[in-house]
Amino acid sequence: MKVLVVGGGGREHALVWKIAQSPKVEKIFCAPGNAGIAQIATCVDIKAADVAGLLRFAQKEKMDLTVVGPEMPLVAGIVDQFTAAGLRIFGPTKNAAQLEGSKALSKHFMAKYNIPTAKYAAFPNAHEATDYVRAKGGPLVVKASGLAAGKGVLICQHTADALAAVNKVIVDKEFGEAGNQVVIEEFLVGQEVSVLAFTDGKTIIPMLASQDHKRAFDDDCGPNTGGMGAYAPTPLYTPELNEIVMRDILEPTVKGMAAQGWQYQGVIYAGLMLTADGPKVLEYNVRFGDPETQPVLSLLDTDLVAIMEAVIDERLDQVDIAWKQAVSVCVVMAAGGYPGKYTKGDLITGLDIGTKDVIVFHAGTAAKDGQIVTNGGRVLGVTSVGNDIPEAIAKAYNGVGKIKFKGGYCRKDIGSKAILKQ
Ligand code: AMP
Ligand code: GLY
Repeated sequence: MKVLVVGGGGREHALVWKIAQSPKVEKIFCAPGNAGIAQIATCVDIKAADVAGLLRFAQKEKMDLTVVGPEMPLVAGIVDQFTAAGLRIFGPTKNAAQLEGSKALSKHFMAKYNIPTAKYAAFPNAHEATDYVRAKGGPLVVKASGLAAGKGVLICQHTADALAAVNKVIVDKEFGEAGNQVVIEEFLVGQEVSVLAFTDGKTIIPMLASQDHKRAFDDDCGPNTGGMGAYAPTPLYTPELNEIVMRDILEPTVKGMAAQGWQYQGVIYAGLMLTADGPKVLEYNVRFGDPETQPVLSLLDTDLVAIMEAVIDERLDQVDIAWKQAVSVCVVMAAGGYPGKYTKGDLITGLDIGTKDVIVFHAGTAAKDGQIVTNGGRVLGVTSVGNDIPEAIAKAYNGVGKIKFKGGYCRKDIGSKAILKQ
């Protein structure tokens, strides 16, 4: 098989790495990829958002399977376009992808199907939104409804902050078109867990639950980022909790989507807050998470391509998915200044530390004059597999200690919440 992976971050490196292990696969392309991906696949210079360019390339190369990493092409309808052209592609259709593409739509959907989530209201203008904020009072969470690369969520402790946030989103349009609607939510308290599942629209098979670390600095301080590290499985996600999440969240989600006429296929990712009143959905993503994919796929024993084919052919009920009895920790090494301004093009040394138990997934890297340099905010995801959490943490940080680039930083506490829980 020839497989095309769309995207160029750490998630896509992990996808390519896992897909390369499939006996079904002869050749892998990645668009646009990065310097790490280029070591195991052929990178093509087409941007992930260039759906027309990707389609032309997949047709020319007679691609047998396309796997989409980021949300943007999914929300733009890449799956519909590839399917119409007779190409096999793994992911939800444009309509189904609105679950991530429109927070207002996803909240209305959850309300309709009684899926537990924060209380909310959505508004297309500032006037009503402001009245609502005044009536409710802080703390509140104000969100731009559309895609905003993880930046359109503003946590507001006080009413005045929430009023300012509404202004930012819907008047000043700080997040562009994403702010055509503003969603205002009740502020939830609890631990966050990422539950990703494969589904063909009928059968749902959850992956190992993971925990992301969204803030830039230790102890969940500092600004929000794309994710500074993750580990799996998280002991917070007990078998009892899985039963509740399947019954109250994942099954109603997949059934509800089908009832709307938007049969959901691909990966459904529920970002959950474990509140005192039970698990509540913070958001849906319609794809693999980044960096959750790095530890989760590191523990997957089953052929990922076989799973994806079963999803496309709607026979996921016939698939058994096996996981290693181990723990995986991914520590993100970021460029100094990230998530704000940072430099690119800094030399990275010590990258050849890969062992059976430690893989260095590249995120923002590029090749330059035979060397590998930084090329993004999140640069690398050093990912270990160990027998238990302390061992996996020690192995990942041992790897991190050997890699150097100017200004690089990482959190020192990835996985520590799992130890506190044990
Ligand atoms: P989202 O992109 O909607 O998942 O939001 C990004 C982050 O903001 C989440 O991972 C949470 O940490 C936080 N967040 C979002 N919604 C809420 C909420 N209703 N209450 C508390 N925190 C929230
Ligand atoms: N790790 C969060 C996300 O992928 O959106």
